[in-house]
Amino acid sequence: MKGIVLAGGLGTRLYPLTKVTNKHLLPVYNKPMIYYPIQTLVDAGIKDILIVTGGNSAGDFLKLLGNGREFGLTHLSFVYQEGEKGIAHALSLAEHFCAGDKMVVILGDNIIEKSIKKEVEIFEKQEKGARILLKEVENPERFGVVEIKDGKIIRIIEKPKNPPSNLIVTGIYMYDSQVFDIIRRLKPSERGELEITDVNNKYLEMGQLTYGILDGWWTDAGTFDSLLKANILVAEKERKKI
Ligand code: DAU
Repeated sequence: MKGIVLAGGLGTRLYPLTKVTNKHLLPVYNKPMIYYPIQTLVDAGIKDILIVTGGNSAGDFLKLLGNGREFGLTHLSFVYQEGEKGIAHALSLAEHFCAGDKMVVILGDNIIEKSIKKEVEIFEKQEKGARILLKEVENPERFGVVEIKDGKIIRIIEKPKNPPSNLIVTGIYMYDSQVFDIIRRLKPSERGELEITDVNNKYLEMGQLTYGILDGWWTDAGTFDSLLKANILVAEKERKKI
């Protein structure tokens, strides 16, 4: 199982914090943001990890992370995404790295409380397709929202004005290698990006999309408010350890 952290994009929603650096290098309590998604993959038992970066300060990722020794890794891989062409576009750059293997993908601004190891184990046993992790939130209109009927996902809508539920798709996705063919066939959305929601909807259409509900708290950190929330949640978690 390969691990991929998507840390491209321009972080425009956090401007001017992102004027001279990359969003994923900003602090979340006592560590740079990118440490959390890497740790999530490592805690799930994944040792072969690719960081897709882009925008400002790409070289700083190498300076910061090196070969991943702080995470107990022996090596880390890096690729560079030019421009901000969407999450699915960033993932397309991982095709060579995955070399036919299954993968766990995590967005570089997604921070969670607990381990996803059990979910990854379920996906390891899944013969083919994709698995997404859902979470109930108070402001679903900012995310990919799922409509569920009789325990089955009917559709996923990206940032709907009138969300059909409070259940959103977190930025943790598990795919088989079909994902790269699916991305190749995608058309850019109205915001000019290759959307990960279109990828997930394609797997849904193929009858190959499963889901789990994420255990513990989840947040992204891509807006001023969610970045503040992430800081507070991580600080509380760290203090509990003392
Ligand atoms: O956080 C979960 C949400 O993430 C999902 O519910 C949505 O369905 C999904 O579209 C995404 O929504 P956002 O609008 O919040 O994504 P954003 O553009 O903020 O990008 C999130 C991360 O993805 C970012 O921290 C780095 C990576 N990314 C994004 C883009 C647009 C890239 O690596 N390259 C890109 O071009």
